[in-house]
Amino acid sequence: MMLHLLAALFAAVPLAQCVRRGATPPLPLPPRISAGDGARLHAQSGEQLPPLDTLYTFDQLIDHNNPSLGTFQQRYWSTWEYYKPGGVIILTTPGETTADGYTGYLTNDTINGQIAQAHNGATIVLEHRFYGQSNPLPDLSVESLRLHTIQQAIDDLEYFAKNVKLPFPGGDQVGPDKAPWVLIGGSYAGALTAFTNVNKPGLFAASYASSAVVESITDFWAYFEPERQHMPQNCSLDLQAAITRLDSILMGKNQTAIDAVKASFGMDDIVHLDDFAGALKYNLYAWQALAPGEDASIFYDFCDALEVVDGVNAGPKGRGGEYALAAWGKYWTDGYYAGLCGDWDAESCLGSYDTSASYWTDTSLGNDDRSWMWVVCTEMGFFPESAPSPHPTIVSRIMQPSYDERLCQQYFPTAFPQPTAPQVERTNQAYEGWNVQTKHLYFGNGQRDPWLYATVSSPFTYVPDMPEQSIGLSAGGFHCSDLATWYGEVDATVLAVQEKGLAAITRYLAEWKPAKTGA
Ligand SMILES: *[C@@H]1O[C@H](CO)[C@@H](O)[C@H](O)[C@H]1NC(C)=O
Ligand SMILES: *[C@@H]1O[C@H](CO)[C@@H](O)[C@H](O)[C@H]1NC(C)=O
Ligand SMILES: *[C@@H]1O[C@H](CO)[C@@H](O)[C@H](O)[C@H]1NC(C)=O
Repeated sequence: MMLHLLAALFAAVPLAQCVRRGATPPLPLPPRISAGDGARLHAQSGEQLPPLDTLYTFDQLIDHNNPSLGTFQQRYWSTWEYYKPGGVIILTTPGETTADGYTGYLTNDTINGQIAQAHNGATIVLEHRFYGQSNPLPDLSVESLRLHTIQQAIDDLEYFAKNVKLPFPGGDQVGPDKAPWVLIGGSYAGALTAFTNVNKPGLFAASYASSAVVESITDFWAYFEPERQHMPQNCSLDLQAAITRLDSILMGKNQTAIDAVKASFGMDDIVHLDDFAGALKYNLYAWQALAPGEDASIFYDFCDALEVVDGVNAGPKGRGGEYALAAWGKYWTDGYYAGLCGDWDAESCLGSYDTSASYWTDTSLGNDDRSWMWVVCTEMGFFPESAPSPHPTIVSRIMQPSYDERLCQQYFPTAFPQPTAPQVERTNQAYEGWNVQTKHLYFGNGQRDPWLYATVSSPFTYVPDMPEQSIGLSAGGFHCSDLATWYGEVDATVLAVQEKGLAAITRYLAEWKPAKTGA
C-alpha cells in the first residue's frame, strides 16, 4: 500500500512536459490518490463489491438559478465497503481537476475511508462542475463559464445530496434528512467545504476541511512564505540573495548584463523580463509537491544545485548571491529547461504575451487550467507574486498582481476588456473568509503548506479553535497532508491532526438527528 500510495502522489507532481508553461500558476489541489486494482469486499457480509473505479453519473442541474435549462451528467464514484444501514454518507470532490485517479478517497488510504470505517459509512467522490467530464455546457467559453461560480458548486453539493440514489441497497433512502452526511475537501475543495457550511448550515452533519483556502486574496505573495521559512536555511538565504542580485540587473539599464543573465538560464530569446522572472517561480512551485516522509524530491535537488559543491554543503549562511544566481542558471541549462520546455524556444514555452496562442483561445472541454483560471480571475485571486518590499523575497520584485491581471484579460477578453483584479472582497463577504463561524466543521492544516496563509491557521489572522469549529495544525504537514492516512503513519504531528479531526467528526455526528417527518 505504502509504495503504491507514494507512486500515486509522485504522479501528482506537475511533471515537466513539452507544453507551453508560461502562465500556469500552481493549483490549490489535494494530492491524487488512486486505490490500485480497486477490488473490494463488503466488510460485514464479505460480498463482492463493484470495482472502485466503477463510474456513476448524476443528473445535475445546469443552472441552479434556472432549473428549466435542464441537467447535465455529473460523474461520481462510490463504495459501501463499510456501510451499514443507519451509517453516514461521506462526500468529497477533488475540486479543480478531473476526478479520475481519486478513488483513494473512497478507501481508508484517506481520512474519508477512516471516517467511513468508524461510522459505518459509504463514500463518494464527486467531480466538480466544469472539470474533467462533468460539464454543464459544451465548451469553456466566457458565456458558458458564467455558470462556473462557487455558489453553483455549493448548490451542486446540496442538490446531489438531496436527490442522488446511491448504487447500494437502500441507497435511495439516505438523503441528508434521513442520514448524517459528512462533507470533506482539501485545498480549494476544502474552502468549498467551509463555504458550504456557511451557505447551507445544517445540510452536512459534520465536515472536514484540509488546507482550506478560505480567505480569497489577490496578491498572494505569502504563497512563498512557508517555503522561504522552512527550506534549508542556506538555500533560503541564497535564493533571497540571488533574487536581490537578479533584480538589480533586471531593474538596471545595462542591456548587456540583462542579456547575459537571461542567457545564463538558457532563455536568451525570451522577450519580456516579467516572463523571464516569472519562469524562475517554477523551481519554487516544486515545494508544493513535498510531503512528510519524502526526502528525495525535485525541490531538494534544486537546493543541492545551489548549495553542494564537490559533495560539500555550504554552511548555514549559504554561498552568496553571485554564486547562487550563477548556480541557479546552470541548473536550468543542465537539464531543468529541457525538462520543462523540451525543444521549444523560451519565448514559445514561457512567454505570455502572444494572445493568439491556442493556450488563451482554446475553449474546448477538459482544459482544467482554463476552468480554474476562471475562478482565480473572478472570485478567488491567489496571484503568486513577490513579497512587498522590504520583506525578504524569493521571487523577483518585478512580479506584481498586474502580471496576472493581464493573464486574466488574455484568457477571458470578453469578460475583462481591461486587466481586472478578482472580486475577492465579494467572495470573502459571501462566505466569510477568515471570519468563518460555523458549527460541526473541522479544519486540518500544515505549517509547511504553501497555502497556509490563506487558511484559518494563517499568521495573518487569528481564528479560535472552538469545540464546534475545531482546528488542527501540524508542524510537519504540507499541503493536505492530513487527508492521506500514510502521512499520519510517517509524521506524528500529522497523525495528531488526523486524530483530532476524527474525534471532532465523532462529536459532531453524535449531535445529528434525522429531520422530523410529516406535513
Ligand atoms: C483498511 O481497509 C482494508 C480493507 O479494504 C483493511 O484490510 C485494513 O485493515 C484497513 N485498515 C485499517 C487501519 O483499519
Ligand atoms: C554591463 O554589464 C556587463 C556584463 O555584466 C559588464 O561587463 C559591463 O561592465 C557593464 N557596463 C556598465 C556600464 O556597467
Ligand atoms: C545547506 O544546504 C544543503 C543542500 O540543500 C542542505 O542539505 C543542508 O541542510 C543545508 N544546511 C543548512 C545549515 O541550511
